[in-house]
Amino acid sequence: MTLIEEKQIVELGVEKMDHDHSNFVNLVNQLETCDDDNFPALFELLPIRMEKHFAMENQLMEEFNFPAILIHQEEHSRILEEIKQVKAKIDDGAIDEGRTFVKESLIQWFLNHLNTMDSCLAADIAHKTQ
Ligand SMILES: [Fe+2]
Ligand SMILES: [Fe+2]
Repeated sequence: MTLIEEKQIVELGVEKMDHDHSNFVNLVNQLETCDDDNFPALFELLPIRMEKHFAMENQLMEEFNFPAILIHQEEHSRILEEIKQVKAKIDDGAIDEGRTFVKESLIQWFLNHLNTMDSCLAADIAHKTQ
């Protein structure tokens, strides 16, 4: 089963953002289909990649003087912290809890974040680079 279809993902028109979002979707779909033995190592990639992605977006926000910078950066920090806490539980063997988190929280978070904060940022960049 595919948890997120590529077609559910809006292209924002900012290449580095779209590229990372697409990679994120692939990783989430791999997390859905992988077996329990591979789940922890794949999950470990989430905070690593997301930290890099957030740093890139945070940098874009500074560069373009994005008005909602603080709330967007705080949201990045908040979800990253949550993911690290789930990772710690997975490392203690709670694979099922990790799977539930991906299915019932992370996907919804991502789609919501993409359609709100990231879309606003991309629109702001488009407006300022016209
Ligand atoms: Fe993003
Ligand atoms: Fe973001």
